[in-house]
Amino acid sequence: MNHLLTIDTLEPELVDHLLQRAQHVIDDNFNFPVPKEKRFVANLFYEPSTRTKFSFEIAEKRLGLHVLNFEAEGSSVQKGESLYDTVRTLEAIGANVVVIRHNQDQYFNELKGIGIPILNAGDGCGNHPTQSLLDLLTIRQEFIVLQGLTVAIIGDVRHSRVARSNASLLRKMGANVLFSGPEQWMDDEMENGYYVPIDTAVKEADVVMMLRIQHERHRNGMDLMKEEYHQRYGLTVEREKMMKSQSIILHPAPVNRGVEIASELVESDRSRIFKQMNNGVAVRMAVLNWSLQFEEVGSNGIIT
Ligand code: CP
Repeated sequence: MNHLLTIDTLEPELVDHLLQRAQHVIDDNFNFPVPKEKRFVANLFYEPSTRTKFSFEIAEKRLGLHVLNFEAEGSSVQKGESLYDTVRTLEAIGANVVVIRHNQDQYFNELKGIGIPILNAGDGCGNHPTQSLLDLLTIRQEFIVLQGLTVAIIGDVRHSRVARSNASLLRKMGANVLFSGPEQWMDDEMENGYYVPIDTAVKEADVVMMLRIQHERHRNGMDLMKEEYHQRYGLTVEREKMMKSQSIILHPAPVNRGVEIASELVESDRSRIFKQMNNGVAVRMAVLNWSLQFEEVGSNGIIT
């Protein structure tokens, strides 16, 4: 069963394959042979989303899938139905794959026994595997070779599923990962001695990846004013000038302009933020195609 729940289960060979497939999709102007079989995909977003939800939906429609958009508010979740029973129901009525975003870390541990592929669109502070794949594609388009590249992940690291998945994937693929931001928002396991002051991170990185403050996951509010956060931990216009000449800026978005990044840098020459979003559609097409096994899959998980 080709679930995509975390980055940890993906072999580098399969990562390469998915990214190559996504790049072909882009080079081919998002055209993709539409399978003849009728297949249904259910999108279950228990947490808000713009990019992931709609880029999955566009990817699904480009693949000719029939899309079921599940709304928790209008469903039997309101009557207390569990996530397992909801997904089991969708499987029983004919969904061939489910895409799930949920605020609970590792919600998928409750879904053992589900007989259709589950694609994780974000679990709490845990994982966001398709975001890391699209980030990696964006980095590869720029630098081609990942070995020896330095990526600085800066901001609210502890509460960020994007940081967790990216650190795992980037290290797996040979990049060096640095962290910066408020020290109380670092994560010992992820950061593991690679914390540096923000000016060092910005100067040394080939890729500066800024993170949003995850207010919704904080028990206590931020004790800094926005402007103070921006000056101490943000990518300011002054800090951007310290970046290496070929370095780029990423951000998974949504962006808090003027907080973690200066508004004028969001669409600057160095920024690849909107490119990341465009790459997200292609990556999700490649992942859906793999999970549905539209083509022959070898024992290594690679489609031939
Ligand atoms: N990057 C990301 O996951 O954005 P959304 O929350 O809008 O899906």
